[in-house]
Amino acid sequence: MSKIAVLGYGVVGSGTVELFYKNKDKICAKSGKDLDIKYILDIRDFPDSPYADKFTKNFDDIVNDPEVTIVAEVIGGMKFSYGYVKACLENGKNVVTSNKELVAEKGAELLKIAAEHNCNFLFEASTGGAIPIIRPLHVCLAGNDISAVAGILNGTTNFILTKMINEQMAFSDALEMAQKLGYAEQDPTADVEGHDACRKICILSSLVFGKHVYPKWVHCEGITKLTLEDVMYAQSWGGEIKLIGSVKKCNDGKILPMVRPAFVCNNNQLSHISDVFNGVMVYGDGFDEVMFYGRGAGKLPTASAVVGDIAAVAKMTSTSISQTWADSTDDSFIADYKDDVVSIYVRANGVAAEKISEVFGTVEYLSRENQPDGELAFIAPAMQEKLFDEKLAQLGGEILGTIRVLELE
Ligand code: HSE
Repeated sequence: MSKIAVLGYGVVGSGTVELFYKNKDKICAKSGKDLDIKYILDIRDFPDSPYADKFTKNFDDIVNDPEVTIVAEVIGGMKFSYGYVKACLENGKNVVTSNKELVAEKGAELLKIAAEHNCNFLFEASTGGAIPIIRPLHVCLAGNDISAVAGILNGTTNFILTKMINEQMAFSDALEMAQKLGYAEQDPTADVEGHDACRKICILSSLVFGKHVYPKWVHCEGITKLTLEDVMYAQSWGGEIKLIGSVKKCNDGKILPMVRPAFVCNNNQLSHISDVFNGVMVYGDGFDEVMFYGRGAGKLPTASAVVGDIAAVAKMTSTSISQTWADSTDDSFIADYKDDVVSIYVRANGVAAEKISEVFGTVEYLSRENQPDGELAFIAPAMQEKLFDEKLAQLGGEILGTIRVLELE
């Protein structure tokens, strides 16, 4: 019998317990183990829960119980989770987590501790919600040289953008709805400012390129500056605006991870991903490209990945050697995003078309319904972003917005 402890009984924790008991027979059959949940750790009381006898407020009950071999950390944040996870791994207990902040900030260290204690630290639920992306990257696609990953990695912002575009819903109303549905972070700034997507692209970058990519090294922009006017211009151009997290290998051997809103053309499948769904495109030499798609947030979709890791880790007899990466001490392997060559959309007021031609050469003009006199929107030709910045400063007038165009790999 392998006993499980679930740390945290919030949205994902309660979903994990619910899904585990709903499908317990199948999960035990698939893992070949007689699994059961022995403890649920939470500071709150749940006297009416059908699992009331499993609750504890004392972490020591779990870490000191030799029967517990699998711990699911679904508390989120760093305050308690880091110490708890570290202690569990140091005691040889396998840990599975949905905690992207923990993996993005402490992944290399925790993976090392797991290896030293012959146990596993799994985190399929940390990125893409229900989408299997971590295991495919290091198992199914292991025979390839992966050159890039690009995706919609945050369900809340994709949900907000979809509601704004399709239903002209105000940003704040859409955010409130995402919070009620259990998609948003406790502090939704992490969603709308791109920090959540940043943590996820750090995890994918570390896994694919083998060195820990810390969030502080990644250029990150959220969706708070986007307007409905920008959305209309994107549609007239033939695409949508999406919050994209991406990483690519550069010619000089560095990698470029970043998070930013981007014009995504309708030829790219990412432009068609709406609501809380996430999508991740992966590019590599053998398979060319593959796409992963599914619910990126929410109680049971995230629980699906947590429970999947529980079933997987129950079968493991030693530390996974493919799902790991080395720590890194500096960011010398990260490229400067300002050196990247990119096309950029510009919306400006009070700038003459002659001046735009003089500065940028030939540009692609966009139009929208009720476009006011004096407002021009265009896509500048591809160039290094630092050169674009210099040219933009020469335009004069009022720059109302700039958004990068996502290139197809
Ligand atoms: N707040 C996150 C999102 C939850 O919206 O994607 C899933 O990681």
